[in-house]
Amino acid sequence: SRKVLMKKYLVIGNPIEHSLSPRLHNYWINQNKIKAIYDKKLIKENEIKNIISQIKTGDITGVNVTVPFKKSVIPYLEKLSPEANASQSVNTIYLEDNKITGHNTDIAGFELSLRYHKYDVKDKKVLILGAGGVAPSIILGLKKMSASQIMLCNRTKSKAENLKKIYDYLDIVNWGDMPEFDMIVNATSVGLKKNEEININFKKSGQNKFYYDVIYNPRETMFLKKAKEQGNIAENGIMMFVYQAHQAFTIWHKVMPKIDEETLKLLTK
Ligand code: ATR
Repeated sequence: SRKVLMKKYLVIGNPIEHSLSPRLHNYWINQNKIKAIYDKKLIKENEIKNIISQIKTGDITGVNVTVPFKKSVIPYLEKLSPEANASQSVNTIYLEDNKITGHNTDIAGFELSLRYHKYDVKDKKVLILGAGGVAPSIILGLKKMSASQIMLCNRTKSKAENLKKIYDYLDIVNWGDMPEFDMIVNATSVGLKKNEEININFKKSGQNKFYYDVIYNPRETMFLKKAKEQGNIAENGIMMFVYQAHQAFTIWHKVMPKIDEETLKLLTK
């Protein structure tokens, strides 16, 4: 590969303006005195091919992928990690053995975030709301951590049923139904806009459950606010975000960056 003084990293997506990845990665890059720069780029689907080809030439060293391209980048890659293949979702790209390789660090990010919150999902019943892009990563993470039951419901039922074709251990639940659960995960996009609300019966689900929202901006969705009001534990997706970045950084730079108070402050200011 070509020699470059300043290695270039990118996060691609649409929209991309809100992405906190540049702030976090550049902070860790500086902290570890690495010669690199991490940028964000708003792209259209037809630009994916060109950007990925620049990984092969060494013009770009690593790419993070966010909504809505985590699946659509796959045809341009030469190799997938087992996690990327199982989820058909790629958020981290790099050159390995001269092959453009796609990996999924969202699964580990989700898993490490639960460890951070000290929630042991083993033998727990979990209900996932949503069957969009992030759902496979949540499903695989829960399975790996030995949840006893993984239930899935989605407004458009056919999309939940399609996921069951791949992950046959899923139990599909009708949208609006409220089965018994220990943990519930919001994997829909509802709540990204302030005061947007999912219609769920919080009273019926009881107390002392664990409510997890993949969304971290806004910091407290209505889903989490109401869960707390009813006496439940509630956590947003910020640590999943931090840990997926941590995993990507470690792969790219072969350095494990620090996660401390200052790192977290960086993301909430
Ligand atoms: P995509 O569907 O393209 O993968 P996504 O942002 O990854 O997009 O997923 C959005 C998720 O939020 C989907 O599960 C979607 O449900 P549908 O499949 O029925 O569209 C869910 N979602 C978005 N708006 C919703 C709403 N108002 N009520 C319920 N679910 C909603």
